[in-house]
Parts: sequence; structure tokens; C-alpha cells
Amino acid sequence: MRTILVTGGAGFIGSSFVRYMLGAHPEDKIVNLDALTYAGNLENLRDVEGNPNYVFEKGDIADAAFIKSLFEKYNFDVVVNFAAESHVDRSIEEPEIFIKTNVMGTQVLLDAAKKIWMTGKDEFGYPTYRDGVRYHQVSTDEVYGALGKTGMFTETTPLAPNSPYSASKASADMIVRAYGQTFKMPVTISRCSNNYGPYHFPEKLIPLMISNVVALKSLPVYGDGMQIRDWLHVKDHCSGIDAVLQKGKAGEVYNIGGNNEKANIEIVNLIIENVGEKLKSGKYPIDNDGSKVGKDLITYVEDRLGHDRRYAIDNTKITTELGWEPSYTFEEGIVETIEWYLNNQDWLKQVQSGDYQDYYERMYSKK
Ligand code: NAD
Ligand code: TYD
Repeated sequence: MRTILVTGGAGFIGSSFVRYMLGAHPEDKIVNLDALTYAGNLENLRDVEGNPNYVFEKGDIADAAFIKSLFEKYNFDVVVNFAAESHVDRSIEEPEIFIKTNVMGTQVLLDAAKKIWMTGKDEFGYPTYRDGVRYHQVSTDEVYGALGKTGMFTETTPLAPNSPYSASKASADMIVRAYGQTFKMPVTISRCSNNYGPYHFPEKLIPLMISNVVALKSLPVYGDGMQIRDWLHVKDHCSGIDAVLQKGKAGEVYNIGGNNEKANIEIVNLIIENVGEKLKSGKYPIDNDGSKVGKDLITYVEDRLGHDRRYAIDNTKITTELGWEPSYTFEEGIVETIEWYLNNQDWLKQVQSGDYQDYYERMYSKK
């Protein structure tokens, strides 16, 4: 039995990972540590709340005293760090919190793990660690910067981040690497492409567009809409991280991607068409009959500053060395995701109204 610290487990990918791990490894205990920022929503995990192998702790990864006490309380075997400020547009408005959480928070976690896992020193003076421990950093393909029309990111592509968000993630990766090199800590890093799926906060492209089509609001496409992202279903990201935890080698980086490059405008058009059709079927509890859904909802707006033109992941290493493969095609995954949003309008309304932020008080004040 492992005790696994999942940070940022109330967010989009973290909550999916908590659910995935409780299902795939029922012998493990999962401690979800989350600061519950605007992006953290415990309603994402309502279905696992009674699971005896699941515990929630509220706190900040950058709070060194709190993190130290948490490590002492649980004596974690594995740390999977999802906690981060994750939105590029917000990082352009307010970079500081990205450095605090994404960079300093990572260092605080590494340091706490190092202290609690150290068993002594080897003959060269390097620390030695308890068997079976691992620190895993959840990173992004955005650390590699932007691609032109051709080529793909491999694990050896030099880091060249362009936004304050990606710069903070690249900085964190470098610190993780340094703990691996200098202190011989068993660390791994995964760099994933853009995720999509249920519980995605509606400030990101796919959930924002679905929600705006339903509300017949304009669809803000940045610049010419020809920027390319490589999309992966969130559950496939979770199985990729699990593969790295089980079979990945300490000190290594693994790219995770599903070979699904799409221009933003293609995604927006697909959402308009699919949501429109579904609404016309009248099968959903939504007050919109689909008759006004069309491409005229698209509004081309000012481009994002420093907007990366194209991302594409070469997943050869994880597929050949670890035997991981994505289970979703984009065509299946996007339709299922749209369906989820249409059937979960209450979740969306709670997120948009901010009501979800009371959930912790309501649920946990009794405990
Ligand atoms: P998200 O914004 O949905 O969730 C982030 C979570 O971290 C939230 O629950 C938030 O409350 C929590 N958090 C923020 N600051 C914290 C702090 N100081 N202490 C503790 N918890 C804190 O993000 P996401 O999309 O789920 O991304 C999760 C991770 O995956 C991030 O590290 C991100 O960089 C990485 N990633 C995301 C994508 C993507 O497409 N979304 C792709 C590749 C990598
Ligand atoms: P986003 O979901 O913010 O992810 P990231 O910036 O991390 O890739 O954006 C995905 C793409 O969609 C990106 O090229 C920016 C673009 N975009 C829009 O055109 N309009 C929008 O309203 C948003 C949120 C994003």
C-alpha cells in the first residue's frame, strides 16, 4: 500500500487523477491537498468523498511549515504535483502568483519530500532514500515554446517558454531536475499536451466555447484562430502519469500526447455543429432549441500577447518504453465531453456563479 500525495486534486486534471487512482489502485491511499483557489472545486470529487482510501486536506503547497507538518502526518511514499496556476491569459495579467505557486511551491514540496525520505548518505556524500519513493512533477508541452509548421517536441527539445505560465512551469521542471541531479532524489517529469474532458474550468477554450454556444453568447477566437494545439483526453493523461509512476525511470522526462493536432477554429466549428445538433434533438434539459446556433456566433478578437502558434508532441518514448497508449480518439472524446457539459449544466452554473466556492465550508465545517 502506498500513501500518495496528489496536490491540486480539486482541479480539472487532478480530480480526474484522484478518481482514476482510486479505481485503478484500490490498495493505495490518496491524500488530496488543494488550496481551493478559484480553479479548485471539491464538487468535482463528490462521488469519491465516502471512499475510505481518500482524504482531503486544504492548504497551500508554498506554505513550507504546513507542508512539513503534512509530510510528518502522512509519511507519503509518492508525490504527484498538479497544483498550479494554470491559465496562460491570467499569467499575462498577473505573473506573480504563478512564480509563487508553480516555482516556489514545487521547491517546498521537493524539500519536504527530500527530508522525510532521506535514510542517510552514500560513500560519495549523496543522500540515500527509502525504497519505493517517487516525486512526480506534472508539467506541460508549453515549456518547449512554439513550433513552426513542421516538427514535434521530443524530451530533448530545448526549453524555450514564452508566457509567464510556461516560464514558471519550465522553472519548476529545472528545480525538479536539480533535486534529481544534486541530491539523487527519485524524480520524474511528464509534459503533456492540452487536455480536454469533464470538469474543465470554463475559462479554457473547449469548455468556454461549449458553454457560450449553449448560452448563445459570442465565441471569442483569438487572432486568426489558426493556432494549433495537440489535444488529449484527461483520462489518457491520467493513465500516462500512472504508467510513469509504475514503469518510468527516475531522472527521466516523458512527453504525453495523443497525436491530435487541431487548429482552434476547427475546434470551435466542431463545437458549434455538434452542440447545435444536440440541442435540436431536444434531449437535454436546456432552454435553447439550437435554431440560433451557427457560425455567426464567432467573433475574432485581439490576439493573445506572445501567442504560441503550434504545439505538437512526439510520444515515441512513452509509447515504446512504457507501453502507454491513449484510449480515446479525439472524435469520440469531444462528443462525450460535449454530452457531459450538456448533461451537467448545474455544475457549469455553480462554477460560473462562484457558488462552488462555498462547498468546502458546507461539507467540511461539519467534520
Ligand atoms: P486547474 O487550474 O484546473 O487546477 C489547479 C488546481 O491547483 C486547483 O484545484 C487549485 O485550487 C490548485 N492550486 C492552485 N494553487 C495552489 C496552491 N498554492 N496550493 C495548493 N493547491 C493549489 O489546472 P489543471 O488544468 O487541472 O492542471 C493541473 C496541472 O497540469 C498543472 O500543473 C498544469 O500546469 C498541468 N497541465 C495542464 C494541462 C491542461 O491542458 N490543462 C496540460 C499539461 C499540463
Ligand atoms: P487555452 O484553453 O487557454 O489553453 P493554452 O493557452 O494553455 O493552450 O487556449 C487554447 C487555445 O485557444 C489557445 O491557442 C488560445 C485559444 N483561445 C481562444 O482563441 N479563445 C479563447 O477564449 C480562449 C480561452 C483560448
